[in-house]
Amino acid sequence: MTKASLISIGAYAPKDILTNYDLEKIVDTSDEWITKRTGIKERRIAKDEFTSDLGYRAALQALERSGLDKSDIDAVICATITPDYFCMPSTACVIANKLGLKDVTAFDISAACTGFIYLLELAKSMIESGAKRNILIIGAEKTSAIMDWSDRSICVLFGDGAGAAVVSARDNNPILDVHTSSDGSKGELLITPGCAIVNPANKDTIENRLNFMKMSGNDVFKIAVNTLTKDVVNILEKNQIPSDNIDLFIPHQANLRIIEAVKQRLNFSDSQCVVTVQKYGNTSSASIPMAMNDAYESSRLKNGSLVLLDAFGGGFTWGSALLYFGGK
Ligand code: COA
Repeated sequence: MTKASLISIGAYAPKDILTNYDLEKIVDTSDEWITKRTGIKERRIAKDEFTSDLGYRAALQALERSGLDKSDIDAVICATITPDYFCMPSTACVIANKLGLKDVTAFDISAACTGFIYLLELAKSMIESGAKRNILIIGAEKTSAIMDWSDRSICVLFGDGAGAAVVSARDNNPILDVHTSSDGSKGELLITPGCAIVNPANKDTIENRLNFMKMSGNDVFKIAVNTLTKDVVNILEKNQIPSDNIDLFIPHQANLRIIEAVKQRLNFSDSQCVVTVQKYGNTSSASIPMAMNDAYESSRLKNGSLVLLDAFGGGFTWGSALLYFGGK
């Protein structure tokens, strides 16, 4: 059977930095509280750029690093909860057009912070089935656009950014396994209630601030730690890989305390664990590929590195992936 390999990674972080000290001037919070509860020190904000602009830049870098020609790409899939447009066109179509790609499959998926793991499962399946050979997957988010800047319980947590990868048919360094799952019964704990069909965009929706993300942080925290730990244990056991054999554990970057809890339960060392939450905050579907790119650019992620990914997010959705990095 044809195997799928992640052959390149790229990322883009907008240049404007919003520090915890800047947030102290906007809401009743402090650098001390944010640092202690989340590990976050700063995040990036896309002022004059849209989600597709962030995704385009990350995708261009991943494409250049793949060594492939634009014409080799046969699908573009974007995971985002902050698409450029409501319903259509998809952000993937916008990015494909910005990249100058012609005649490619392009669509978005919505799996919140687990988006990149869902993308990997899709890309792996499409390649293994023989349907496609080279797929550009992108996690891109302008979370600042759905942030209530008067709600201190959430606005300190998120940031903007994008990450992208090329997944290709290759004999070496395969994506070994991907597991994804969900529990829709908990959807209301992390939700953007408007402006879609249930609460259409109108004066009341806007006045009640339903167009912004809402989260029951404490409930999400506990469920995230337990679910992620179980999911990571399961994928390692299923593939008979001891945690010592993992070169890099790259978890979703939502909260340093969640990462530390999972890391300790799995007995991962500091050198195995990639942490970027302090500089980008939670960038939802972009967080894993941005962290992976960080590890790549600092020479921690190398050709053949065995990598474990995990994520949890709205829906609820969660997932994990095991792969050998196929990039140069
Ligand atoms: N600055 C200062 N105080 C704040 C604050 C802020 N930004 N946000 C909340 N507080 C206050 C609360 O009002 C509360 O005060 P009270 O005790 O007087 O009522 C207190 O801090 C504790 O709030 P709580 O929500 O219980 O804190 P917490 O320890 O659960 O930390 C989160 C809050 C959001 C950091 C944490 O719950 C979390 O990270 N949750 C999961 C986030 C996540 O992973 N989300 C996405 C999944 S992809």
